This record gives sequence, structure tokens and C-alpha cells, in this order.
Amino acid sequence: MHAEKPVTAIPRHVAIIMDGNGRWAKARHLPRVAGHRKGMEAVRVVVRAAGELGIDYLTLFGFSSENWKRPEAEVSDLMGLLRLYLRREARELHAQGVRLRVIGDRSRLAPDIQDQLMGVEAMTRDNTGLTLVIALSYGGRAEIICAAQQVAEDVKRGVLAPEDITEETFSAHLFTGDIPDPDLLIRTSGEKRISNFLLWQMAYTEFVFIDTFWPDFDRAALLSALGEYGQRERRYGAIVA
Ligand code: IPE
Ligand code: IPE
Ligand code: MG
Repeated sequence: MHAEKPVTAIPRHVAIIMDGNGRWAKARHLPRVAGHRKGMEAVRVVVRAAGELGIDYLTLFGFSSENWKRPEAEVSDLMGLLRLYLRREARELHAQGVRLRVIGDRSRLAPDIQDQLMGVEAMTRDNTGLTLVIALSYGGRAEIICAAQQVAEDVKRGVLAPEDITEETFSAHLFTGDIPDPDLLIRTSGEKRISNFLLWQMAYTEFVFIDTFWPDFDRAALLSALGEYGQRERRYGAIVA
């Protein structure tokens, strides 16, 4: 008899690459921003569902360091939606017991957005429900370089010896220093790549790629991905009897 695998295994940390807003809009002959707008609604739905399902950490890739290469008008639309999301959702997130964390190079964001982010993080800091991590102006390689620079500074100051640099001390310097690695990564829209997301942290993450465009992602799509995750056998290089 093999042990029954629980289909309802709830991963502690789910990360999502929310992709396909532009193609969702294009298929409807709408401007790309319409896809981003609908995508923002999907974020609300999924954050609520994740909290209700007992997921501890949800990390959403909102804007990559490479997304700055997009036309100015699109970047400005996305930043406008981010402002709107924070303004509209801050109270609701707080009421749901969500703790907001932002990872990425905030210095590139507009000062008013930086202030909004700090405000919501401060307001929700002591909440004990879902930790919602939003990756903004985020790049995995840049994050690793930033951690390497901090570690090098510690060595230069004589507070850390090179032989004491371990996986633990190094990962403590990442933006996600106090956040467990993702158990499950979901990418929507049919693309099968990680696009510079959480490179270090995803060493043993399970990947689920789905064809749905992000604006159509909902609670049922999340449950379906969790179901697939529940079928996976995580071995971490060892042999599982
Ligand atoms: C994801 O949708 C949102 C961001 C990357 C900000 P896209 O805008 O990448 O949509 P597609 O991939 O062009 O369809
Ligand atoms: C990844 O999507 C970034 C976000 C979802 C925020 P992209 O649409 O930017 O990725 P590529 O360009 O297809 O790899
Ligand atoms: Mg895309």
C-alpha cells in the first residue's frame, strides 16, 4: 500500500508570475491597460482566497527590473494602477489581517509610491494572517548582487570571515531574508520560464505552468494549481521510499 497523498496539501508559500495581461486585452481588441486593470481585480480575488485557504505567504511578481524597458506610457499606466490598488485596498488588506511586504529596488519607484508602500507596510506590520509579498522593480540577479555587496561589506569591516559565509548567512541578506522559500510557483499565460524571479529562493520550488491569462485567474484556478502541487513528490535530492 502506498501512502495516500493529500490532494489538499496547502503549501506554506505560493509565488505567482502574473503574466498575460497584454494578450488577454489583445484577444478582446482592448488596449493593454485594460488587461492590467482586470489583472488588478484578479489580484484582489487571489489574495483573499490565499488568506482563506490558510496559505502563509503569497508572493506576486508585479513589476520586474526588466519591465522598465517597456514604453513610458505602459510603465505609467502600471504605476497608476499600483497607486490605485494601494489606495483602494490598504484598509481591506488590513481588515483581512494581511501583512504587506515589498521586495525589489524601491529607489526606482516614484517617491509618492514609496511613501504609500511604507505606509501600508507600517500599518499591517503586526498582522498575523497572510503575508503578501509584492515584487516591484524586482530582479533576482540584482537581488543576489545586492546581498553579495552587503556580505562583502561585512567581510571588509571584519565582522564576518569568508569561511563563515554560508547559505544561511547569505540568504539572510536577500530581500526575502526572513521569508521561507516558495513551495509552489505558478506562472500563467503559457510561458515556461522564470524571467529573473526569485532565482536563489526557487532552488527546490515546484513549478506549475498554466495557459490561463492572468486576468482570468481566480479561486478555482488557484485550487487547481494546489491540487497539482498535492500530487508532487518533493525529494530534495534524497531517495524517498
Ligand atoms: C503581466 O502581463 C503584467 C506585467 C508584466 C507587468 P504582460 O503585460 O506581460 O502581458 P503579456 O505577456 O504581454 O500578455
Ligand atoms: C514577468 O513577466 C514579470 C511580471 C509578471 C511582473 P514578463 O511578461 O515581463 O516576462 P517575459 O518578458 O515574457 O519573460
Ligand atoms: Mg508578459
